[in-house]
Amino acid sequence: MEKNIVHIVPQVEVRVIECGPLRIGGRVRIIMPDGSVLVKRRTFICRCGRSKTGLFCDGSHAL
Ligand code: FES
Repeated sequence: MEKNIVHIVPQVEVRVIECGPLRIGGRVRIIMPDGSVLVKRRTFICRCGRSKTGLFCDGSHAL
């Protein structure tokens, strides 16, 4: 039975930070609404809607 289990090593980790952003670790490609592409190894995505930078956390959630 054990031999049917496929072990997958995740390449991207998404961590939910309590009362804060999503921390995305790993090489990711982000396609923005204007079509521009960002490649990052680690990024923090705003979940609170208060960031002055739009998509990315700028620490405003803590104010
Ligand atoms: S989660 Fe940090 S500014 Fe929104």
